[in-house]
Amino acid sequence: MIISPSLLAADFSHLSAEVARVEAAGADWLHLDVMDGHFVPNITFGAPVIGALRPHSRLLFDVHLMIDRPERYIADFIKAGADSITVHIESTQHPAAVLAAIKEAGLRAAVSLSPKTPIEAVFPLLPLCDMVLVMTVEPGFGGQKLIPETLDKIKALRAEIQKSDLNVDVQADGGINDTTLTDVLKAGVNVIVAGSSIFGATDPAKAIADMRAAE
Ligand code: DX5
Ligand code: ZN
Repeated sequence: MIISPSLLAADFSHLSAEVARVEAAGADWLHLDVMDGHFVPNITFGAPVIGALRPHSRLLFDVHLMIDRPERYIADFIKAGADSITVHIESTQHPAAVLAAIKEAGLRAAVSLSPKTPIEAVFPLLPLCDMVLVMTVEPGFGGQKLIPETLDKIKALRAEIQKSDLNVDVQADGGINDTTLTDVLKAGVNVIVAGSSIFGATDPAKAIADMRAAE
């Protein structure tokens, strides 16, 4: 299992210290939620903040774009030092071209879908993806409860990946904590995003170790 703590739940007044805190706690990746106030009703940070953090961490930067027409900004996030870029299928008319541009730059490319989007929508894109991010809450805010119906989508996705004999990671994001983790893993997820349950924990190292023990 790969664990990618979401910076959204960090103390924004000490970002690099917060990144160092989860890095020391045993995180594998760092999940960076970019929101534009259009695709989702919230605004976070963009490429300049990611670029400023880049020299302070060796973690894989897992950038989750929740922005309209992400094709306008892919070059900025590549330049900022993203290692993996995830775009929402609902946010662009050209998902295949955007994924291809990300891969062409040598990064990992991923597509995401919101809870109401049927999982079959991403099937044609699987050969272009290193990962699919299945949102287990409505994108926009941390600290929400996992929507149980999304687990069936994860199962169907894992089955499709196996059937097509592809090597695609399955990531889940939203409402993952010690009570929901087992079901998420059982459904077929191998990359976990967790905001409040890691950054909000009194001991993030213990939170991460407990997650690994549940695998
Ligand atoms: C929500 C973001 C998530 C969020 C998860 O739109 O994509 O990454 O930070 O937060 P938790 O783990 O608190 O649900
Ligand atoms: Zn996210």
